[in-house]
Amino acid sequence: MSSKLIAPSILAADFANLQRDIEMVNQSEADWFHIDIMDGVFVPNISFGMPVLQAITKHAKKTIDTHLMIVDPDRYIKTFAELGSDILTVHYEACTHLHRTLQAIKTEGMKAGVALNPHTNIHVLEDIINDIDLVCIMSVNPGFGGQSFIENTYTKIKQLKALIERKGATTQIEIDGGVTSKNAQALTEAGADILVAGSFVFKSTNPHNTIKDLKTIANS
Ligand code: DX5
Ligand code: ZN
Repeated sequence: MSSKLIAPSILAADFANLQRDIEMVNQSEADWFHIDIMDGVFVPNISFGMPVLQAITKHAKKTIDTHLMIVDPDRYIKTFAELGSDILTVHYEACTHLHRTLQAIKTEGMKAGVALNPHTNIHVLEDIINDIDLVCIMSVNPGFGGQSFIENTYTKIKQLKALIERKGATTQIEIDGGVTSKNAQALTEAGADILVAGSFVFKSTNPHNTIKDLKTIANS
């Protein structure tokens, strides 16, 4: 079984000490940086944009996993590639021509991800799963860190895993929202490959050790 990955969400970092927090992630057992881009339209919150991402990628030494919570993401695919994103995830609910969008992401040399809101059924991916490198199952409603985990996520992970296997796809499963040391093991047991964790990491007294603990629990 391949190792389960931990992706700290920079949304919960201290933006006044961003370089310090990035270096902490660099030195930790974290695998990816998870970057949340919110436009105030697709979700009821605005996070940060290009200049901040540029500052992050200047210091970050691990995979940059960019999660776009924006309408019409096609407009910015090239820009996010230029800013150093390795994986670009768009929302299923924000894309009219998802197949075209995924091809455009890959053309720019990035891996293509699709995020699903909590109300969106896994089966909408039936005809596109083989084109998706990563599915991000939202385990909270997107827009804010620090929300409570939605329990129905376990059912969705199992349904997605079954779909991936049935179609012979190589898609990875990422879980985003409300991840803690209490649910990490159950999530990876259900089939999750990557766990995003924001508040649980950055609001803890020792984020470096919290990442280590999450990594151990996710792989136990
Ligand atoms: C929510 C974001 C998440 C968020 C997770 O819209 O996509 O990545 O930062 O934060 P926690 O781990 O605090 O739920
Ligand atoms: Zn996210």
